[in-house]
Amino acid sequence: MASNASFEYLDLKPGTGSFLEDVIAGLSSSAKSLPPKYFYDARGSALFDRICELPEYYPTRTELAMLEANGADIAERAGAATAVVEYGSGAGRKTRLLVDALRPRMYVAVDISGEQLQSAVGELAATFPDVRMVAVCGDYTRPLPLHQLDMANGARRVVYFPGSTIGNFDPSDALAFLENARAVAGVGGAMVVGVDLKKDPALLHAAYNDAQGVTAAFNLNVLERINRELGANFDVTRFEHCAHYDAQIGRIEMHLVSLCDQVVTVGHRELRFAAGASIHTENSYKYSVPEFQALAKQAGFNPEHCWVDPQRLFSIHYLVAAR
Ligand SMILES: C[S@@+](CC[C@H](N)C(=O)[O-])C[C@H]1O[C@@H](n2cnc3c(N)ncnc32)[C@H](O)[C@@H]1O
Repeated sequence: MASNASFEYLDLKPGTGSFLEDVIAGLSSSAKSLPPKYFYDARGSALFDRICELPEYYPTRTELAMLEANGADIAERAGAATAVVEYGSGAGRKTRLLVDALRPRMYVAVDISGEQLQSAVGELAATFPDVRMVAVCGDYTRPLPLHQLDMANGARRVVYFPGSTIGNFDPSDALAFLENARAVAGVGGAMVVGVDLKKDPALLHAAYNDAQGVTAAFNLNVLERINRELGANFDVTRFEHCAHYDAQIGRIEMHLVSLCDQVVTVGHRELRFAAGASIHTENSYKYSVPEFQALAKQAGFNPEHCWVDPQRLFSIHYLVAAR
């Protein structure tokens, strides 16, 4: 583990090995898809941060305001001695509010986007020099050796998962993720999770189809990343961003749709895309409060409290590990 004056860095090298195989497997099947984790190279992370600033993208500003308003309440529930483990920490703006409220003994950030992770945790470490900070560059969909970290003896573990990133999992994978988080928290430990609520489809549609086209650029960047890192030859002007809300399933689906018949070379493979063929790049499931609480209970959490903003756009759940 590398370490400097302000934080420790554990690089599990999540990007190496499987990118080419995952791309070929996802794009050769009849229902084409790409795992959303590949959005987040340095450019993708920067584009996501721009999405968070967009007028149409209500989740970030709503969750930030909710944390400002309820940080003291969260801290009171968590108690004085905590160790926070955050998954998908990103730029760390929400982290700053949580760490400020909880003043944990230790903070562990897990993210797949190494450059952003180091810069965000570096800034946090400078702001909170008394908190031991560890940055883990890793893939949270795989087993992580967090047991290697000496997790602040006697502190209550609080798993933090903001941004409604839980919505990127299908419900069965979300359940598995929550079960793992419950094991990381340990009996009596807690989880603070931000979850986007079901709402007027027009608001959802606008949030994922912004007027400036930043979400489109974010979606298309995955093809540009495949070009950059795997030497492929996607012409991104021949694909179009498409996001729609499926109210029956309760999820936003993001796709990249081929605008013509085309053949793209990735590695040694030639991949055919018919006009209108789509690559499914991301889901973003929305949950009502009772739906999410039922999932949390199934994963072995007691849903102790839930905050909802006055416009009923977003929820923050405080869950306690019951087993
Ligand atoms: C939707 S963004 C949320 C960022 C931030 N937590 C927020 O609330 O604004 C998802 C974050 O999770 C990270 N991420 C996505 N898939 C991941 C994976 N499989 N393993 C680790 N981190 C991942 C991304 O790099 C990104 O920082």
